[in-house]
Amino acid sequence: MEQGGAPTWRRTDGGPELTVADRRLLGEALSAGERAYAPYSKYRVGAAVLCDDGSIHTGCNVENASYGLSICAERAAVFNAVSAGRKGIVAVAVVAEGPGPASPCGACRQVIAEFAPDVPVLMGNTGGMVEVATMSSLLPMGFSLKRV
Ligand code: THU
Repeated sequence: MEQGGAPTWRRTDGGPELTVADRRLLGEALSAGERAYAPYSKYRVGAAVLCDDGSIHTGCNVENASYGLSICAERAAVFNAVSAGRKGIVAVAVVAEGPGPASPCGACRQVIAEFAPDVPVLMGNTGGMVEVATMSSLLPMGFSLKRV
């Protein structure tokens, strides 16, 4: 994180400028990442989902000594939203430490797509770099029971 709190969010993919709402969601994801429990990987991730009622629900990665039981920040955020009764996800942000913007893992993409098949996903790092993609571009032809 840059000195003095939140970084200056800036798009590094050449896309249009971030909105105030985008910056707010990125800020919530950044704050959630500060609550990560990542003693094993030391890779701290935060996520935030914006719902259609304006509420924001966050998550961080929570690791376990039995490594495979760890949960990613994005899934924690989605599960928090649904647990709060909010399934209408309209945007997702994920922020992690690293040289470039975070990118949700495949498992998280599948979980996000369950509730938000074509929403914008704001991917950032703690230095303020941001790339934006849609869920449908991140997970083409994801699993769906409609195809079974
Ligand atoms: N992780 C996330 O929280 N989100 C992702 O999309 C990828 C990985 C977490 C899981 C684990 O705690 C750590 O990052 C290293 O894989």
